[in-house]
Amino acid sequence: MKPMMRNHQIIAIERLLLDLKKMRLNILEWGSGGSTVYFTDFLDRNRIDYIWTSIEHNYEWYTKVFHSLKDKKNVSVYFFDLKDKEYEYINFPLQLGNKFDFILVDGRKRKECLIKAKELLDSDGIVMLHDAQRSRYHSAFKYYPDPRFIDRELWRGTLKNISIHARIGNKLNYFYFRFVNLINKMMDYAFAKK
Ligand SMILES: C[S@@+](CC[C@H](N)C(=O)[O-])C[C@H]1O[C@@H](n2cnc3c(N)ncnc32)[C@H](O)[C@@H]1O
Repeated sequence: MKPMMRNHQIIAIERLLLDLKKMRLNILEWGSGGSTVYFTDFLDRNRIDYIWTSIEHNYEWYTKVFHSLKDKKNVSVYFFDLKDKEYEYINFPLQLGNKFDFILVDGRKRKECLIKAKELLDSDGIVMLHDAQRSRYHSAFKYYPDPRFIDRELWRGTLKNISIHARIGNKLNYFYFRFVNLINKMMDYAFAKK
């Protein structure tokens, strides 16, 4: 399973995960799926210790993702139906009582989750919003002191002005990821031709 993201966005997240120097990473995600499977595989391959908590609102999709992750002891996927558990969907991570080094907002209620993420983020942590081009989420950006777009669709926030994440979200990176994406597209095209 692959994340529902562009290749250069996947690379940006991989680089970030490698940059987060902690004995054990505590990661939270709203919107389970390929990202949960792919990035936990990536962390395993790179021998990075972590706990990954993922929250999903669609029961059929949750059971599918849950099934593909059932052998990973350090991954927990939680289901909350938005019809009667919207509050829990947004607020459940607070109950876990720990701060998160990386938070990916990629499910439902993204604006509300992004605002909640501020309470959940470690002081050196980073939050990312996917599909950030949608203007209905933008009012949540003001809760973060150093908000940046990595590209049109991927946004990141921190609690501090520029920390170890300085190189994520600068102009050079933007062109770097665009370049990698172009190469990927050319490779896809070249291989599809054969
Ligand atoms: C934009 S997707 C992102 C999911 C995940 N973060 C990823 O990158 O793979 C957001 C939501 O779409 C739904 N979803 C994703 N893939 C799906 C699929 N193949 N079939 C049904 N629902 C899907 C899930 O409810 C998920 O929370």
